[in-house]
Amino acid sequence: MKLATGVLCMFATVALATAQSAIMDPPQVIIPTQGPVLGAIDETAWTNQKIMAFRSIPFAESPNGPLRFLPPKAKAAWTDVYDAREFGRICPNYENVLALNDTQRKEDLEDCLNLSVYSKDLSAKKPVMFYVHGGIFGFGNAALYPPHYLMEKDIVLVVTQYRIGSLGFMSTFTPEMPGNQAIMDVQLALDWVQKNIHAFGGDPTKVTIFGQSAGAGMTSGTVISPKTPEGHIQRSIVQSASILAPWCINRIALEQAKRFCESLGCQGCNDVQKQNECMKNADTFELLTVARQDMFAPVVGDLNGVLPEEPKTLIEKFSKNIPVMAGFTKHDGSFLMAQNFDAFTAPYGGLANMTVRQFANLLIDTGKDTTGLPNNLLLHTLIDPAILDTNNHDAAWYAYYDIISDVNIKSPVIAYASAMQRRIAPVYAYSFDYAGEYSRFNDQDNSQLPFEGGVYHSDDNIYLFDRFPLNADDTEFAKKMVHLWYTFAVEGEPKVLGHTEITVKPKETEAGPYFHINKDVTFGTNILTELTAISHDPESYKLIRSKANNNASQNNIKIEKAKSEEEVDQQIQKAPAKKGSGKSRRRGAMKKRARKIVGSFKHHF
Ligand SMILES: *[C@@H]1O[C@H](CO)[C@@H](O)[C@H](O)[C@H]1NC(C)=O
Ligand SMILES: *[C@@H]1O[C@H](CO)[C@@H](O)[C@H](O)[C@H]1NC(C)=O
Ligand SMILES: *[C@@H]1O[C@H](CO)[C@@H](O)[C@H](O)[C@H]1NC(C)=O
Repeated sequence: MKLATGVLCMFATVALATAQSAIMDPPQVIIPTQGPVLGAIDETAWTNQKIMAFRSIPFAESPNGPLRFLPPKAKAAWTDVYDAREFGRICPNYENVLALNDTQRKEDLEDCLNLSVYSKDLSAKKPVMFYVHGGIFGFGNAALYPPHYLMEKDIVLVVTQYRIGSLGFMSTFTPEMPGNQAIMDVQLALDWVQKNIHAFGGDPTKVTIFGQSAGAGMTSGTVISPKTPEGHIQRSIVQSASILAPWCINRIALEQAKRFCESLGCQGCNDVQKQNECMKNADTFELLTVARQDMFAPVVGDLNGVLPEEPKTLIEKFSKNIPVMAGFTKHDGSFLMAQNFDAFTAPYGGLANMTVRQFANLLIDTGKDTTGLPNNLLLHTLIDPAILDTNNHDAAWYAYYDIISDVNIKSPVIAYASAMQRRIAPVYAYSFDYAGEYSRFNDQDNSQLPFEGGVYHSDDNIYLFDRFPLNADDTEFAKKMVHLWYTFAVEGEPKVLGHTEITVKPKETEAGPYFHINKDVTFGTNILTELTAISHDPESYKLIRSKANNNASQNNIKIEKAKSEEEVDQQIQKAPAKKGSGKSRRRGAMKKRARKIVGSFKHHF
């Protein structure tokens, strides 16, 4: 949005008048590579410090038309003042476009490559925290990450958007659709930071990239990419995923391209050039519609060398000096159990009709391993053989939590921390164990589930980004959380607020040490014990609704229903595709479940 020239004059005058004070009101910056931009005034959550908020700065040209699927092109300079006071368009997916009215749908939906910058002092030189949002590579946007907690600290915060879903990740490994365009969006945003962040009071030599869930997949993918220039990133944090997770790499891109080409009604879909043409020319919403049931993720072997080899191999060759902090929430995988529970049990007429072996295998199969090794090993080590072929789920619940968490989150994070630990920079590993008043488990109606979410996927972010009205205890905890993240970002070492005597140590061996984030920070020596944390936790009975009720005298985990109208960003992990009659029935049920979940988000966008 461009403002009239009158504002430009005002811009010049005000800029002169307030150049001396840290806060410029209204905030205005001349972006070195681009032009003037106007921001808004906001304030921090706990001490009401003023923040200058630039909520939608375009860093790339709209990746539409001939640019669709291609590497992003840096945004050309402008002369009028660009109005970045409000959040703008979010990157399109099926659900958020469906929610638009006819007028909005006619706009350039793909013009979404903007980033937000928050600063307290334009003339300072503060460390930069650069956030990459999550949302299973198909959801999410910058507006979901309010700055008011993190900006209590002396940093500049950047929250970038990137192309999501088919538009961000479709690839035929050809020049027309080279692949990993979404990671290239993040790389271009980092490049923008190098060139421009000093104008916002940021120090381009102190950049911490951090992300959660798919955002952690994006973050680790960006960190290990040979196409990320040395010096663009100084530290990194991955929360609850890594590029080593099975769901962070898409192995079926070519099959998808052919299928989408056919679904779009194009001719000659056996020919990859025809596929490219078809998807390039497709109407945005039609493309999103045919791809709406699919999962997307980065690919290996894209034409621009973003991820030229398997992530594991890239890490072996990795030689940049980038300290890493990596961790997960205590019950991290339970969101996949919650979101897939109905789909997994419906074909059998309910969990009671399934054996422990059947249900456990479905959980393990979300990890998309083809060797069967995890199935055999996990069934063997986590579950008493006497109950495997019974329906004694009561005796298997804790193993279910461990299995679904290990396969999808904990093992990929531990593997990443270990692999990076063999490189040159320190690696800190953590388990986030704090259960506060709110949980993202309650984003959906889960009253039908026989279990609780526990310390759920994304619950860590509740204390970094203010989306819930925290009570006093949770606010105290949020201050500690923000301090850990800030000190790691700024000093390369996480520090415990108010306890300078407590030192959080980097891993010395692949086992540890690692730390637990709770009301107090504590330490563990062997992070592999987290793989069976739920099986060995005496409090685990609270997770199972029937057991918790039988124990009414005990203190249940009481997680209040979230009252917030916030959007939901960590979504459907669809179950793996399977062949065979009984299985395709199950697949149908899974799709139905996925649609139900999608349906419940629709109105949020
Ligand atoms: C991003 O900038 C473009 C202009 O380049 C604007 O049309 C769009 O609305 C902005 N989007 C966001 C998310 O702010
Ligand atoms: C479409 O939505 C926009 C944004 O909410 C609104 O300003 C506009 O009036 C709507 N147009 C129609 C035709 O409903
Ligand atoms: C599940 O079990 C119940 C009771 O044992 C039975 O009536 C029902 O038919 C079973 N459902 C299926 C789909 O097998």
